[in-house]
Amino acid sequence: MNTSILLVDDEADIREVLSLFLKDIGYAVVAAENGGEALTLFRQTLPQIVISDIKMPGMDGIELLRRIKQESPDTEFIMITGHGDMDLAIVSFQGQAADFITKPINVDVLEIAIKKVCEKIIARDLLREYTANLEKLIREKTELQNHLSSLGLMIGSISHGLKGLLTGLDGGMYLVDSGFTRENQAQVQEGWQIVKLSVERIRKMVLDILYYAKERELKWERVDILAFAQEIAGNMEIKMKQQQIDFVTNFAPGIGAYEIDPASIHSALVNILENAIDACVRDETRPQHQIVFAVREDPVNICFDIKDNGIGMTSDIREKLFTLFFSSKGNKGTGLGLFISHNIVAQHGGSISVSSTPGHGSQFIIKIPKLS
Ligand SMILES: Nc1ncnc2c1ncn2[C@@H]1O[C@H](COP(=O)(O)OP(=O)(O)O)[C@@H](O)[C@H]1O
Ligand SMILES: [Mg+2]
Repeated sequence: MNTSILLVDDEADIREVLSLFLKDIGYAVVAAENGGEALTLFRQTLPQIVISDIKMPGMDGIELLRRIKQESPDTEFIMITGHGDMDLAIVSFQGQAADFITKPINVDVLEIAIKKVCEKIIARDLLREYTANLEKLIREKTELQNHLSSLGLMIGSISHGLKGLLTGLDGGMYLVDSGFTRENQAQVQEGWQIVKLSVERIRKMVLDILYYAKERELKWERVDILAFAQEIAGNMEIKMKQQQIDFVTNFAPGIGAYEIDPASIHSALVNILENAIDACVRDETRPQHQIVFAVREDPVNICFDIKDNGIGMTSDIREKLFTLFFSSKGNKGTGLGLFISHNIVAQHGGSISVSSTPGHGSQFIIKIPKLS
């Protein structure tokens, strides 16, 4: 695109000659005969350069310069001054004119002045682009650093967790081995239980990590919400029975089918249900525990509600709940579960709210926007 110039002079001859010359050397030119007309044309055409006579009836060049700089500081201004108007030239510079040329106008001088101004414009645009790129680079670097340090944290936490689980596995294998040697069936049984438990934990940990390692694309599907919740409840029932927890489902009838990514929402809910089981198992104050899994809807959301009467949480724990690797369960926890659940729900545009009282239990409400 040609560099555009607005030429302002009250003398028609000068306008005509200069316009022709500037067009000849490749610029796009519009011309005005006074300050007022120049301002109107300026707003319509937004030229990169304004070349204006300093002495004009009505609004003079200095005033025009001031107004244009006010509206558009990046527009470059070349002032045409009379011979000996040194004082006015200085005022022009103070008003941030890029250059001035004196009358009578030597077109070679004018051409050089314009080229200089063009270089200035190009340099400024480049600088701007570099600055923007630099800011982007810095942002990316910070993100990468955060990612790396969370990766480092993760590797540390995984190694720590695996070490604990391997110790359990070793202990179990030792019991099995020595049970075989001594033909002690009970010891074999005991050892085997420990092995199975450890393998189960390792499996869960690896699956969690695999899940976390990828920010996965959601696979949207239209899902019948009640059947979906029923299936999750069915999966959880055995675990609840094993821990002698009274598992109650409370599904509002008539919730239809909505678009969700069933696999990821499934994981999110199972994480929260498993935490509820842990909370009950870890609570020794009550002989009998209950977990209620409810599903209902409001005008805009599907609401999954998971309530336990387990150990509950202090406000301290509640604040850190969704943080990556936060766990209060020692080497029995990874601190990945709620972090992942939170991400999944957020990816669906939903939210998780938590209320809890230490010693009384917790309630997690997961809201997913209804998309049909
Ligand atoms: N239902 C609950 N009752 C009490 N504490 C909970 C409950 N759910 C989560 N928490 C707390 O949040 C922490 C983080 O949970 P999570 O991310 O699933 O990690 P993990 O279960 O591996 O510890 C748990 O260690 C626990 O302190
Ligand atoms: Mg968990």
